[in-house]
Amino acid sequence: LTITVGSTGGNATSGMQYGLMFEDINHSGDGGIYAELIQNRAFQGSTVIPSTIKPWTAIGGAILSLKVLSQPLSSTLPTSLNVAASSGVVGISNPGWWGIDVKTQKYTGSFWVKGNYKGAFIASLESSITNETLASTKVDSVATSSEWIQHNFTLVPHQDALNANNTFSITYDASGTSGSLDFNLISLFPPTYKDRPNGLRADIMEALGGLKPSFLRMPGGNNLEGNDPPYYWKWNETIGALKDRRGYPGTWGYENTNGLGLVEYLQWCEDLNMEPVLAIWAGFYLDGPAISSAALAPYVEDVMNELEFIMGPVSSQYGALRASLGYTKPWSIKYIEVGNEDNLGGGGTSYSSYRFEAFYTAIKAVYPDILVMASTVAYNFGTDAAGDYHQYTRPDYFVGQFNYFDHFRTGHKTLIGEYAAVQPNIPAGGGVNWSLPKWKFPMWIGTVAEAVFLIGAERNADKLFGASYAPLLQNLNSYEWSPDLISFSADTSEDVLSTSYRLVELFSGTRMTSTLPTTGGTFGPAYWVAGTNNVTGSHILKTAVYNSTAPVPMNVTFAGVQAGASATLTLLTAPGGYSFNSVGNDVVQKTVQKLQATAGGMFAFRLPNLSVGVLEVAGG
Ligand code: AHR
Repeated sequence: LTITVGSTGGNATSGMQYGLMFEDINHSGDGGIYAELIQNRAFQGSTVIPSTIKPWTAIGGAILSLKVLSQPLSSTLPTSLNVAASSGVVGISNPGWWGIDVKTQKYTGSFWVKGNYKGAFIASLESSITNETLASTKVDSVATSSEWIQHNFTLVPHQDALNANNTFSITYDASGTSGSLDFNLISLFPPTYKDRPNGLRADIMEALGGLKPSFLRMPGGNNLEGNDPPYYWKWNETIGALKDRRGYPGTWGYENTNGLGLVEYLQWCEDLNMEPVLAIWAGFYLDGPAISSAALAPYVEDVMNELEFIMGPVSSQYGALRASLGYTKPWSIKYIEVGNEDNLGGGGTSYSSYRFEAFYTAIKAVYPDILVMASTVAYNFGTDAAGDYHQYTRPDYFVGQFNYFDHFRTGHKTLIGEYAAVQPNIPAGGGVNWSLPKWKFPMWIGTVAEAVFLIGAERNADKLFGASYAPLLQNLNSYEWSPDLISFSADTSEDVLSTSYRLVELFSGTRMTSTLPTTGGTFGPAYWVAGTNNVTGSHILKTAVYNSTAPVPMNVTFAGVQAGASATLTLLTAPGGYSFNSVGNDVVQKTVQKLQATAGGMFAFRLPNLSVGVLEVAGG
């Protein structure tokens, strides 16, 4: 295969080629990247997912019950935990989100109590394996029956626990009470990424940072939409003090605490230097009705309020609200996506006839520079709006989509907001079968097929905004959707960076600012895209080989690159197509070779079947 890369005639890239898509699915938020260690800290619930005591258990002879007191902690957190006992050492214990990672570091906690108690609480972390107390502190009670009082504490374990099989407990001497105490909002945080209060898990954030992502599409996905009225992701219920965050039944079968809220998402973007792609609720419930055209105005106005909260001056109503929460400096939003997959589920007609237009018009009137994205490419809105393409499929099908974007409208930027290879190939070919199981982890054959698809997207730089694998995160103890880019458990040393993570890490880390045309060769079984990076001055060729019976020899020349020039070939391979990364096992082999251009500036190398390579000729 002889490929000649020209020097002009390519297209500028968006600068946003690789990013992240996040929604709370697979306990990716609560029990995931949101660093709160206590599961069910505030007994949140609704008629859809009722409040529960689980997984709290009683210590000593205490009787636990949920109560809705006439004087609750807050109107948004009406349910609290009553702990009844009149003598002995009693209390409550929580196993965290399927474990608690205990290390010699500072944990910051607090709990609210109502009831008479003169004495001290003991807050502790204990090993469930050895029953050893790993950390413990005395918290003097200032509890009273007349109001809810917050008690704060810190814990510093004297040693790392054997594993994450640990619990958190609060105990006290019941003889000092009037027979029972009420508890709510019992919280414990480890150190968070960049030490943000109410922040994110450092290990997962570091893994995400390794992808050098340019954008974060959030907060969904289906989870934005809600299943049925009146529940959907409401921005103004996710801000402010934790005691004022109601939570809501997400679409993935569990209650969302909303502890990870709008401000935390924006800080996440700040911390990883990403642009928010803010998904807004577009008047459609996943299983329910669309809001009628006549009734849509308040929902559009609510989005405008959200944007004012994020971007408005402190003198504006919602900018003032932001400032009152401690954020005087506004954030900026350049990208908005209206809804999610609005071509599906019966929402299409209302979306294409009035819903999209209503949000688009209102946003553009105030923020003309924002790129407004539709949540699908099924409709041509005839405006400067962008679109969002989602594809979950099988490896062969992805490879068949190498040319998919070739016929898209030039200048009409499309986000690939969700993509993943999810099931093995079948002899008859075709796409995913939703009634069959999907892979638990990304498989290498799927990752290489994703590479072919992404190369096809990168070749269409003038039409593409960027791509984000989905879902992003999977709690291995409780998940609804696999495969996922990163898997994790409570044990922060056991994160799985999947084969598809390794691909994004490579492709996102070798960005082109412009594509360049190539001549020579036909696509398949090798696929490629070439370009330059005008910041580093390098020439780049990204390539993947899929379904080849033999290694593919490649001879590549770049116009303007002379004999003797040096390049780096980074190659990813894995043993067989159906190998995958799992806890403690990374099957992806990364080799880095130094190459030197021979006569005519040619780089010669061979790519094995099921491999992904990036050839980078240093600038200068
Ligand atoms: O990524 C999982 C789900 O797939 C998303 O919530 C939805 O947008 C898509 O159907």
